[in-house]
Amino acid sequence: MRTRFIVGNWKMNKTASEAGAFVHRLSQELTSHAGIRIGLTPPFTALQAVRDALGPAPTFLLGAQNLYWEDKGAFTGEVSGAMLKDIGCQFVLVGHSERRQYFGDQDSWTNKKVLAALRHGLQPILCVGETLQDRDSGQTDLVIQRQLRAGLAGIEAQAVTTLTIAYEPVWAIGTGRAASPEQAVPVHRLIRQTLTELSGSDSGQHVAVLYGGSVTPHNIADFLASEEIDGALVGGACLDPVSFATLVKVAIGSTPAKA
Ligand code: 13P
Repeated sequence: MRTRFIVGNWKMNKTASEAGAFVHRLSQELTSHAGIRIGLTPPFTALQAVRDALGPAPTFLLGAQNLYWEDKGAFTGEVSGAMLKDIGCQFVLVGHSERRQYFGDQDSWTNKKVLAALRHGLQPILCVGETLQDRDSGQTDLVIQRQLRAGLAGIEAQAVTTLTIAYEPVWAIGTGRAASPEQAVPVHRLIRQTLTELSGSDSGQHVAVLYGGSVTPHNIADFLASEEIDGALVGGACLDPVSFATLVKVAIGSTPAKA
C-alpha cells in the first residue's frame, strides 16, 4: 500500500516570520493525521523557521523547492543537497515547471539534481508535465516519457522505488483550471508504466505519483477517488493554514473507489 502524500508548495511566498505563525496554526488545525504524509516546501529563507516551529517531534515533513547538484563551491546564489540535509530537509522538489519555464532547468539538469538529492539522502519529488501546446498537439505522452527517461537516467532500479513523481500539467498550474481525473489518470498510469520499464522491476507500483495543478479542498476528493493518484502537490490552496488543513482533512476522509 502506498502512503498518501500531500505537499504544500509555498513557492516564493512567506517570510521566515510568517512561516512560524503558519506552522503553529496548521498544527492547531491538524491535531491528528495518521496514515497520511504531509510535506511543506517553504522558500530557502524560511526553512529554519519552519524547522524550529515543527519542534523536536515534527509531524510534517520538511522539503525544499530546488537544489543545485554540486555539494559546495563557487556557485553564487545556489543551495546544495548537503545544505538542505543539514537544515533538516527530508525531501526536495526537482524539475518543477516554473523552474523549467522561468529559470531554464533542462532535463539534463533535473537528472543531476535527482542524483544529488539521492546522494544526500533527500527524497526527490520529480515534477513532470506537458504544456497546453503539447497536449493540444497530442504530445503529452511523449513529453512525459522524455522528462522521466532523461530525469532518471543512470538511477539504479532500487533507488527508483524511493522516488515520488508529481504530475503537474503546466496549463493547470495556478489557472484554476485543474485537469479532470479522467485527464490525469491515464498520465499517472503512463508514469508507472515508464518507471517499470526504466527500472526493469515493478517499481511503478511502489512509487507515489501525486497530481498537482489547481488542487483545492473542493476537488481533492475527486482526484483521490482514483487508486492511481496517491496525493497532491498543492500551490495556491496551501498558503492559508485553514484552507490547507481542510484539504488534508478531506484527503484523510476520502477513500479510493475500487476499480
Ligand atoms: P497551484 O495549486 O497554485 O495550481 O500550483 C500547483 C503547483 O505548481 C504546485 O507545485
